[in-house]
Amino acid sequence: MSDTALSAHTPRVFSGVQPSGGLTLGNYLGALKRFVETQESGTETIYCLVDLHAITTWQEPAKLRHATRELAAGFMAAGIDPARSILFNQSQVSAHAEMGWAFNCVARMGWLNRMTQFKDKAGKNRENASVGLFAYPNLMAADILTYHATHVPVGEDQKQHLELTRDIALKFNHDYGVDFFPVVEPVIEGVATRVMSLRDGGKKMSKSDPSDMSRINLTDDAATIAQKFRKARTDPEPLPEAPEELEGRAEARNLVNIYAALADTTPGAVLAEYGGQGFGTFKPALADLAVAKLAPINAEMARLMADPAEIDRMLGAGADRAAALAHPILEAMFGIMGMVRSRQQ
Ligand code: TYM
Repeated sequence: MSDTALSAHTPRVFSGVQPSGGLTLGNYLGALKRFVETQESGTETIYCLVDLHAITTWQEPAKLRHATRELAAGFMAAGIDPARSILFNQSQVSAHAEMGWAFNCVARMGWLNRMTQFKDKAGKNRENASVGLFAYPNLMAADILTYHATHVPVGEDQKQHLELTRDIALKFNHDYGVDFFPVVEPVIEGVATRVMSLRDGGKKMSKSDPSDMSRINLTDDAATIAQKFRKARTDPEPLPEAPEELEGRAEARNLVNIYAALADTTPGAVLAEYGGQGFGTFKPALADLAVAKLAPINAEMARLMADPAEIDRMLGAGADRAAALAHPILEAMFGIMGMVRSRQQ
């Protein structure tokens, strides 16, 4: 990472979450919780509900609308303050799609062919995947670069997309002989950058997993959370005394990491307390901790969802602020590319 590339750009954080299905504990620990910490650090923060990304796979319109509002409620319930962070849904700011098109013309087919997430999501049915699903990482680059964002907090699974964002910024700057787009810094930090499925320690926790028992949803009630942790797959050994001894025990490590992330501590500290004990003790303790942390978020989400008009108003106001930042950057990009831009704005 060259410091000179960043030095010209003031620190600005951007990240996005898809409003497809509900929020999982993976989204919460890998993204939302960290978004709140970043907001609290005083950096300028922009958070986007990426509805244009969601439609790369079929979304039932009424469900998408509901999921977008519920996601907005989840952000606010987790601690995002729309007065301090910009919170909005992507389709209300047209700059994203416009810059995304330009990046379709910058990125190379070969780059996108290497994206593992496309391969995973399209599966064996590549011929039938939408063009949008293939070009998705270009839109993601546009989300970030239309704000000249410098730092992007995400979970581990987004790393490759952020590398592509850097490649797009560098190629644009090179092709047009400018130092226009910042080369973004992925921020993949903490113990919960890859929360794994509760049924299979080799798979990430995901809202698209067919088994609901594989994940904790932010909308799960206390009894469901307790049941899911009780049934979580583990091995018969007691917990070890040190994190290194979790090597080769993916399920055990996942539960320890989840505990550490929820308790704002380290796996070492968790094992100092629970090392030598069996899952019969650890799982109920983990469930109690998760319920204590998630129940207030859950309740606040329900309260906010009772007034969808207020959520929509907040998203509209956030989109106005986002558009005001994005518009001049989009205009400057089109200018660099040689587009005539002569409308009186
Ligand atoms: P999405 O909606 O799949 O996930 C949102 C965020 O949650 C993180 N995450 C996880 N972290 C830890 N463990 C897990 N099991 C887990 N599952 C999900 C993701 O890494 C992500 O940070 N392409 C993005 C959305 C996006 C975006 C952007 C992100 C669109 N434009 C611009 C950053 C910047 C996505 O599908 O995330």
